[in-house]
Amino acid sequence: VPPDIEQMLEAHELLRKFYHHLLVNTKDGQHALEYLLGRGFTMESIEKFQIGYSLNSWDFVLNFLTKRKFPLPVIEKAGLIIKREKDGKYFDRFRDRIMFPIFDRGGQTIAFSGRSLGADEPKYLNSPETAIFNKSKILYNFHLARPQMKKLQQATLFEGFADVIAADRASVENGVATMGTSLTEDHVSVLKRNVQSITICYDSDHAGIEAAWRAGNMLSDAEMHVRIALMPDGMDPDDYIGQFGKEKFRKEVIDASVTLMTFKLQYYKRGKRLHDEGDRLRYIEEVLAEISKLDNAVERDHYLRHLANEFTLSLEALKEQLKQISFAEK
Ligand code: CTP
Ligand code: MN
Ligand code: MN
Ligand code: MN
Ligand code: MN
Repeated sequence: VPPDIEQMLEAHELLRKFYHHLLVNTKDGQHALEYLLGRGFTMESIEKFQIGYSLNSWDFVLNFLTKRKFPLPVIEKAGLIIKREKDGKYFDRFRDRIMFPIFDRGGQTIAFSGRSLGADEPKYLNSPETAIFNKSKILYNFHLARPQMKKLQQATLFEGFADVIAADRASVENGVATMGTSLTEDHVSVLKRNVQSITICYDSDHAGIEAAWRAGNMLSDAEMHVRIALMPDGMDPDDYIGQFGKEKFRKEVIDASVTLMTFKLQYYKRGKRLHDEGDRLRYIEEVLAEISKLDNAVERDHYLRHLANEFTLSLEALKEQLKQISFAEK
């Protein structure tokens, strides 16, 4: 391991411990701890996820690490301090934020994400890409979720830190999240190497539903079994667990997840009046186009029958139509 990398990892390790100490044991961190407990985080999850607090200071990290002989350029390359353009002075990146350490698969701290306590923007401030942190490859909580993922051959994919942590509290311990980026092909291969099935449990708002659609297609193209878990409009898993509790989350969100195709059928129905002939035909066309993309003949047959039943159409006519779509696509 090159010396810079070694020092970057060591700096993260030291800060993770200190941030956590500040949150849990000090007066400076008290308002942050109250904020977390007020949001339903428990001391148990604060420990498990090693959540911390960064002081409201421009030079705490700067002094903390230089005193311990870390060279400034290394601390900067680690993304922990920032160089000011106009005079070349350094200042701390993370100030007065709840700190979520990000671990690699071996459990080493390689980055942080800091959530603001108030309305400060951005809501989450992440470490930049560094020699030890590649956002498009890392899944939050992968190192802790992995044993459970392997055991169940199943993972649950969330949008955010708070969702992974709330779900863990609800005994859904196979949860991981991307960090403010869409799912990448690298994420897909990591998942594919570990599990056969994925439940996507993104926020049930417009952005989350669009993202679930894209992620669902990517995972299904990688030949994984995909289910989509949905909540009432606008809610995210953390909101849902806070409002309705753990049990209801497991039963009515996770266990009630639907196949990717069923999710698409529901999606295409949105905003359409299916008793209206035009809307109905448009719906049938959209669904047929989706069915035509299925590789599995049994599945194609299943959804064709479903469609035929729903609108009392002849299966023959639908099959004929499907042939034309498949032909047009080739
Ligand atoms: N995110 C980010 N930068 C932002 C906003 C969001 O990196 N400025 C990432 C975070 O990982 C966040 C995830 O995207 O957890 C989902 O965003 P959002 O749903 O807006 O936040 P929540 O996770 O619901 O955050 P909270 O519950 O703390 O408000
Ligand atoms: Mn502790
Ligand atoms: Mn969201
Ligand atoms: Mn959210
Ligand atoms: Mn949230």
